Amino acid sequence: MGFKTIIEPFKIKVVEPIRITTPEEREMHLKDAGYNLFGLKADHVIIDFLTDSGTSAMSDRQWSGIMLGDEAYSGSKSWIRMREAIYNLTGYPYIFPTHQGRAAERIVYGALGGKGKVFISNTHFDTTRANIEVTGAEAIDIPVPEASDTALNKPFKGNMDVGRLKELISKHGKENIGAVILTVTNNSSGGQPVSMQNAKEVGALCRLNGIMFILDCCRIAENAYFIKRDEKGFEDMTYKEIATQMFSLADASVMSAKKDALVNMGGFFAMHDKAFADKCRESLIIGEGYITYGGLSGRDMEAIATGLEEVFDPDYLNYRIKSTAYLGNKLHQKGIPVMMPIGGHAVYIDAKKFYPHIPVENFPGQALACELYLKGGIRSCEIGSVMFGHTDNKGKFVPAAMELVRLAIPRRVYTQSHIEYVIEVFDKLLEDREKVSGYKITEAPRYLRHFTARFEKTGVKMSVSGGR
Ligand code: F0G
Repeated sequence: MGFKTIIEPFKIKVVEPIRITTPEEREMHLKDAGYNLFGLKADHVIIDFLTDSGTSAMSDRQWSGIMLGDEAYSGSKSWIRMREAIYNLTGYPYIFPTHQGRAAERIVYGALGGKGKVFISNTHFDTTRANIEVTGAEAIDIPVPEASDTALNKPFKGNMDVGRLKELISKHGKENIGAVILTVTNNSSGGQPVSMQNAKEVGALCRLNGIMFILDCCRIAENAYFIKRDEKGFEDMTYKEIATQMFSLADASVMSAKKDALVNMGGFFAMHDKAFADKCRESLIIGEGYITYGGLSGRDMEAIATGLEEVFDPDYLNYRIKSTAYLGNKLHQKGIPVMMPIGGHAVYIDAKKFYPHIPVENFPGQALACELYLKGGIRSCEIGSVMFGHTDNKGKFVPAAMELVRLAIPRRVYTQSHIEYVIEVFDKLLEDREKVSGYKITEAPRYLRHFTARFEKTGVKMSVSGGR
């Protein structure tokens, strides 16, 4: 207590070397990748902030569990441990393993979806939306209005707009709502947390109308940290108790274990309702595997059981949230337009404000992501018009709502000095920000173009009116 320095609450037992590339090498690698960071070899990256998913460092306890993994096809000891860990945390009687989050989504939304159904969320993550839309159903996002004000420093900007939820229920009819989904924390909206009050209000409205309420809970431990810190009445509860309370409000949950279960692969879904569980069980066996492994090895399940315990350790969560905030607040102090407040797993930069001279049709977010790599070997992810923009049927460019770049921080992987290095790289970016040009797409597939599109630089174009 009382110290400013955030020390990592772990010691390093195994190391993975980072190859330090030169600016000339990076220029060549990025050009070869068509200026798309997904196309880079990971070995050519110095600091990899592409995602926090599946990139955690496991603990010595988790690694020793790997040797204890029981690979029995049915009734594996490791499954029983994983099921118990999930039951203790969530209280759901029906629990099913999957190989990752989107597999659980495919099964759950496959069972609930279909033409004419509507799903409502604070914000659907893209795989959630895709798994809903593929059934012919519609997915509607209703974050609170303040979510889109990136500079507004207010807690719980990840909440769902309950007023809009009421309107949508009466507009579409409760019988046509497949489910209401609360994503905690709200990844696609800045990694902002959801308050318990909001979850209670959403849950009450769903119960009143007989609508299924689902938690997308992959970052629920991080969310619990914010509730304990910022919401009245939770100061004396443990992080795990807070998470358990949130689970008790929902009918079912879907989890990508690649986030807050501190593992490299895995997921699950769980629920109270037997008839719903029976329907999902069938689809699990057809697509993923038998109900006691669902696409996972016994050793993966062992690691998940341990990870779900470790993630609620107060020292870990304190380090996790404070070190993410350290990076975000340092950038904020330098005048870099970061989304405020800093969320749990990532720092989001508003690239439209950082490069106001680059028009949105030339992708300021892509320009920022490329500069971070060229100057410092940092890999980030554009979440803007490359990902969500499109050309309408009249040939007009329709930009995304925001041009963000996400620095997603892997759990327990980087140290304070890596973070200090990242902050220094931003100083370099500030030195010549007016000279940076935008990009144009030279090749792109029809769907999910951000993964494989190729780009070229437009050359510096100083638009007098500035970006939109
Ligand atoms: N839900 C949320 C809120 C997510 O963030 C993700 C994945 C998923 C579901 C899907 O889980 O990857 O295990 O199939 N998010 C990653 C990211 C990919 O980078 O934010 P998955």
